[in-house]
Amino acid sequence: MISKKLTDTVNSQINKELYSEYFYLSMSAWLLSKDFDGIANFFTVQAQEERFHAMKFFNYLLERGAEVALKPIDGPPVEFKSVTDIFEQTLEHEKLVTKSINDLMDLSIKENDHSAVSFLKWFIDEQVEEEASVSKILNQLKFTGEHPQALMMFDRQLALRKFTPEA
Ligand code: FEO
Repeated sequence: MISKKLTDTVNSQINKELYSEYFYLSMSAWLLSKDFDGIANFFTVQAQEERFHAMKFFNYLLERGAEVALKPIDGPPVEFKSVTDIFEQTLEHEKLVTKSINDLMDLSIKENDHSAVSFLKWFIDEQVEEEASVSKILNQLKFTGEHPQALMMFDRQLALRKFTPEA
């Protein structure tokens, strides 16, 4: 049986994943308003991934016979300074999510909840991938200094990203 403390912490994580969805959708809206449709696509797909993460936690709680308690979702920022600013904020945000997932794992280990430990491994690996992909784009952006031709190249490249959830 999953503990009350772990259930509450997973419910908070659902809220963080849904906030992440909002955050990336807001970035997508800002990018679309500046006609960076391809980079906006990257964040629309990112938002879909965050909903997928939230639903993984949601379904897990139900499978464990625990209560899903959805909380209000904060409003994300709506104004951004630049494409680089967006990727910087994304990396900082993902670092916070990684810490939150690591804290969840620490709690599961402390409680000897083997099922939760096994379930959370997927998220530990996912965070490594998320931070690495955002960090790479951010480094490339900093290297090119948001030169117009580089931004157009990013826009074409990031237009190709698709949402491909694992089975
Ligand atoms: Fe759900 Fe981007 O972490």
